[in-house]
Amino acid sequence: MFSSRSLLALLLAAACVGALAQERYPGIGRSATPKEVTAWDIDVRPDFKGLPPGRGTVAQGQKVWEAQCAGCHGVFGESNEVFSPIVGGTTKDDVKTGRVANLRDPAYPQRTTLMKVSQLSTLWDYIRRAMPWTAPKSLTVDEVYAVTAYILHLGEVLPADFELSIANMREVQALLPNRNGQTVAHAKWPGPEFGANRRPDVQGSACMRDCAPEPKIASLIPDHARNAHGNLATQQRGVGPQRGAVTEPKAAAPSAQALAAAAATPVRDLLQKNVCLACHQVETKAVGPSFREVVARHGARADAKDYLAARIRQGGVGDWGTIPMPPQSIAEADLQAIVAWLAAGAKP
Ligand code: HEC
Ligand code: HEC
Repeated sequence: MFSSRSLLALLLAAACVGALAQERYPGIGRSATPKEVTAWDIDVRPDFKGLPPGRGTVAQGQKVWEAQCAGCHGVFGESNEVFSPIVGGTTKDDVKTGRVANLRDPAYPQRTTLMKVSQLSTLWDYIRRAMPWTAPKSLTVDEVYAVTAYILHLGEVLPADFELSIANMREVQALLPNRNGQTVAHAKWPGPEFGANRRPDVQGSACMRDCAPEPKIASLIPDHARNAHGNLATQQRGVGPQRGAVTEPKAAAPSAQALAAAAATPVRDLLQKNVCLACHQVETKAVGPSFREVVARHGARADAKDYLAARIRQGGVGDWGTIPMPPQSIAEADLQAIVAWLAAGAKP
C-alpha cells in the first residue's frame, strides 16, 4: 500500500511528466495526436514513399470523373474553362520516348497536365489533397487510384480494362508521356537525400550599394476575359475566404448633367429615393448593416468605391448575416454619389 503522501507525490510526478510532454507552451494549444499527424502527413514522393495501399479501375474512375470532375475539367479532360486542360497533346510516341514532342512546338496551343507532369506521384498526390476543388480530400484512396487511372486512359496511356494499384504504380510511371522531360539542372530535385549534392539554382548575395531597382511583378487578366466567370469580388470558395477583384464591366458612364445633379442632391434624399432606407440606417443596424459599419469594414480598401458599387448593384448575402440584400437597380449617377459618400466615411 502507498501512504497517502507517497501516492500524492506519485500523482504529482505523473502530472508533471504529462504536462512536460504535452505543454511546451503552457496554456497554448496541445500536442497533435498521432492520428492527427497521420491525417496531415499524406505526401507521396516520386519514389512512392507515402503511397497508401489501394486500387481502382479505369471503369470505376470514369464514374468518379463524370460525377465529380467533368463539370469543371470537361468530359474528356479537355475543358479550358476553369483551368487549362488536363488531357490532350500527348501521343503514343511520347509514351515510348517519355518526352512530349508538342512541348517543343511553340505553335502548339496548349500545355496540358499530361503533357507536363513527369511524376505519377505528383498527379496522384495532387488529386488526393486538392481535388475536387470544392471538396478537397473527400475522395477515398481507391477513388484516387481509379480516377488517376481514368485520366491516364483518356490520355491513351492505359487501356480501358486497367486496374491501377500500389503494386503497379512504378510500371505506370514508366509509361508517363513526359517522364523524361524533367530537368534536374536546377539541382533542386532530386534533393540530397537522393544523392544529388549540388546547390540549388537560387544563389545570390545581398546587394548593399548601387543596387538595381527592385523589379515589380504584376499579374493581369486581359480586359476581354476579366468577367468570364462573373464578378470575382462577390465570389467565395467553399474553403477559406478568397475575395477577388471587381471584374464586372463598368456600366455606361452617366452624363455630366446626371452626375452633377446627383452630386448636388443631399445623400439622404438619394437613399430615400432609391429605397435604401427601408433596410439601412446611417448609425444603427436595421435589416441591413448600418452604413457606418459598412464603412468601418470596407472604407480602407484601395478599391472601396468599385467594391461597394458592385455590391450595391448585385446585392449579396452572408457578409452581415443571413438576410440577403436584393440586387439594386439604381441610376449610375445616384450610385456614384452614394458610393462617394460611403467611401468618405458616411458622414451625416
Ligand atoms: C469546381 C471545379 C473543379 C472540380 C469539380 C475539379 N477540379 Fe480539378 N482543378 C480545378 C482548378 C480551378 C484547378 C487549378 C487549381 C490551382 O491551380 O490551384 C484544378 C486542377 C486540377 C489538376 C492539376 C492540373 C495541373 O496541371 O496542375 C488535376 C490533376 C485535377 N484538377 C483533377 C481533378 C479531379 C480528378 C477532379 C475530380 C475528382 C477534379 N479535378 C475536380 C477545378 C476543379
Ligand atoms: C431589402 C433590404 C435592403 C435594401 C432595399 C438595400 N439593402 Fe443594402 N443590405 C441589406 C442587407 C440585408 C445587407 C447585408 C448583406 C450581407 O449580409 O451580405 C446589405 C448590405 C449592404 C452593403 C454592404 C455590402 C458589403 O459588402 O459589406 C451596402 C454598401 C449596402 N447594403 C448599400 C445599400 C444601398 C446603397 C441601398 C440602396 C440603393 C441598399 N443597400 C438597399 C439590405 C438591403
